[in-house]
Amino acid sequence: MSSLNVSTQLQKEISRIRDDLTVSAKTLQTITDHFVHELDKGLSKKGGNIPMIPVWVMDYPTGQETGEYLAIDLGGTNLRVVYVTLKGNHEFETQQTKYSLPEGIRTAEADELFEFIGLSLQTFVADNFPSGVSHPIPLGFTFSYPASQDIISEGILQRWTKGYDIHGVEGQDVVPMLQKVLHKMKVPVEVVALINDTTGTLVASTYTDRETRMGLIFGTGVNGAYYEKCGNIPKLEGKYADDVSPDTPMAINCEYGSFDNEHLVLPRTKYDIQIDEESPRPGQQSFEKMISGYYMGEVLRVIVADLVHQKLLFRDQNIKSLEEPYIMDSSFPSVFDLDTSPQLLDSRDKLKLLGVDSAYEDRQVLQQLAAYVGERAARLSVCGIAAICKKRNYKTAHCAADGSVYDKYPGFKERAAQALRDIFEWEHVEDSIVIVHAEDGSGVGAAVIAALTQKRLQKGQSVGTKAKMTRTE
Ligand code: GLC
Repeated sequence: MSSLNVSTQLQKEISRIRDDLTVSAKTLQTITDHFVHELDKGLSKKGGNIPMIPVWVMDYPTGQETGEYLAIDLGGTNLRVVYVTLKGNHEFETQQTKYSLPEGIRTAEADELFEFIGLSLQTFVADNFPSGVSHPIPLGFTFSYPASQDIISEGILQRWTKGYDIHGVEGQDVVPMLQKVLHKMKVPVEVVALINDTTGTLVASTYTDRETRMGLIFGTGVNGAYYEKCGNIPKLEGKYADDVSPDTPMAINCEYGSFDNEHLVLPRTKYDIQIDEESPRPGQQSFEKMISGYYMGEVLRVIVADLVHQKLLFRDQNIKSLEEPYIMDSSFPSVFDLDTSPQLLDSRDKLKLLGVDSAYEDRQVLQQLAAYVGERAARLSVCGIAAICKKRNYKTAHCAADGSVYDKYPGFKERAAQALRDIFEWEHVEDSIVIVHAEDGSGVGAAVIAALTQKRLQKGQSVGTKAKMTRTE
């Protein structure tokens, strides 16, 4: 940093920002310990900040599951429809099409969203099964938002996250909303399971790798799923059907993006507070808002805007665009952070997209700031992994990860691995808890979950609470 040729005032501000965004090993350990406590609280009868949603996936896949399934995944920019053939022997084939989400869908009305999904499925089925199907195709619906489930085939949206704000869905079960549209459009598809992307990732990766201990998403949002023992979920006591024993596994969608909504341990800066206050859901997803792909660019933008207001950066430049919230997605810090091009020309081109002409010195500052934001995100991200390992007493684990930040953000993997070392202070040379690349959770994972669900139902086993199961008999 000392090599930057900038004013003393700017130098001072950069140091302050660095100090605010740096997370020491000690802080990571404190956060992790509190995280374990919060995971427990989420499973208790009283509940806590972290929802810890039991998702009624009550088997480990063996890798021998077979069958043909449809899976859909409503992502940030498109709807992915996948036809999955599970071949057993840990093998599968997929065929997929992506449908771009209509402009403005994040804040549309519920009907628009479900009609769009219905139409996309109709097109997919017509294109891939021109002579029709003999029976409805079972569908695993990946819906990556906090949705409560008393049975695997429902999902009552607790609240939107990641900037979605579609009216008339919160508090509703999204499965009948979709099924109604499919029925109306005569699309021969039946929703058999509603799945979170993390649970899909957990199950898809377990299908191919028995050492998998959790499924994680580091993308637009951040979240994790793992298997708990039913006997360790106090909030479900008395609600299980008779076939469930205390040792039966239960996948839990933690929804830990909401970790520390009480603001007890996370080192929030004035920038984090600003982003939260200006978001559609202030006070929620505190952890996610500091680290996920949806917010990382925004964290950098508010920092830059602050320096611009102080007339310390981009002097005499037209920087109007930088006033616009969310104008920088995570590809911006991602390009700036480890830009190795001469004169940081890649960063220059990226800034041009915003109509900003930059001086080399400005770009050097931006690189520094992006590195602080990126490093903080990676380091804080692993506290969820460490907490699950501590809670379940895992000494070794494959932590299956997916998502745009994990895949594309430079240095994320190395920084995350270092943060795990900082937390656990291993004395052995090889890391025993490692983050590995996940299998396709919302395609293959959704299909395997649909297969596991059908198998349980065929055997007369439960896939929901006792009350729900008696009602559906
Ligand atoms: C948000 C959602 C959660 C999802 C995560 C990753 O945190 O609430 O359901 O798993 O993003 O997509």
